Amino acid sequence: MSNYENILFEKKNGIATVTINRPTKLNALNRMVMRELDAVFTRIAEDSEVRVVILTGAGEKAFVAGADIGELATQTPTEGKEFSLWGQAVFNKIENLGKPVIGAINGYALGGGCELAMACTVRIASENARLGQPEVKLGILPGYGGTQRLPRLVGKGLALQLLLTGEQISGTDAFLIGLVNKVVPFAELMPTAEKMAQAMIANAPVALKFVMEAVHRGMEMPQAEGLFLEATLFGLSCTTEDMKEGTQAFLEKRPAQFKGR
Ligand code: COA
Repeated sequence: MSNYENILFEKKNGIATVTINRPTKLNALNRMVMRELDAVFTRIAEDSEVRVVILTGAGEKAFVAGADIGELATQTPTEGKEFSLWGQAVFNKIENLGKPVIGAINGYALGGGCELAMACTVRIASENARLGQPEVKLGILPGYGGTQRLPRLVGKGLALQLLLTGEQISGTDAFLIGLVNKVVPFAELMPTAEKMAQAMIANAPVALKFVMEAVHRGMEMPQAEGLFLEATLFGLSCTTEDMKEGTQAFLEKRPAQFKGR
């Protein structure tokens, strides 16, 4: 099942579950974890059996408590820049996987953990979750996309407040500001993530991919260009077998059987 030291990987009914498994260090992201995350998401991208990914942390305490502070402490400026660019590339791979990634935030999601959650397509938090970007308390700033993805998710004012105070917020407060999509009791976290995954899996794979492309790329464009991109992808979706199947199934009052073509 899993060939990784710090990651558990499971595949069932189209859902890949990736669990960061370093609970004694609150699943902190050291180099090994980052290398394995990179490898597992490369493998998932190529695996057509995987339709949706659920990403979570092992144990009841932490999703990911940040980048590994022991490793950070000894970095030179040059290494720091390379480390940041590499981490950004790994998280970009998750964001642009072409398949939805549901972040199931089961506890602390601090620093790199909050950044990892934000690279996921959607986020569900348990009630015990604590989210924040405490890097300024360590004399650094977020280096895995936090200064860019947080304002895009919650707006500039709240993002700056969280980034400048380094404060932790609860799963409920994260829900109220749009940092997470849902907050649920701990016991319901994985069932809720699986239910959301199944709802996505029922839909046409290419349409899901195009939706994510339209939203991610469109957010970086002026609206007129984003609308043009949407129209182009819409036109492309009309060439798919799944479009014929989806519309025909509706007209014949039967469930659609999508093939991802
Ligand atoms: N990097 C490396 N190790 C970490 C870590 C991190 N980001 N976060 C936690 N750990 C380790 C601790 O050093 C400790 O290891 P030890 O048992 O070998 O001493 C273990 O995980 C448990 O953490 P501990 O601090 O004892 O748990 P706690 O319940 O008292 O506190 C936190 C939990 C999350 C509040 C606290 O661990 C913390 O503040 N972590 C750092 C958060 C952070 O600044 N992240 C951003 C990094 S850029």
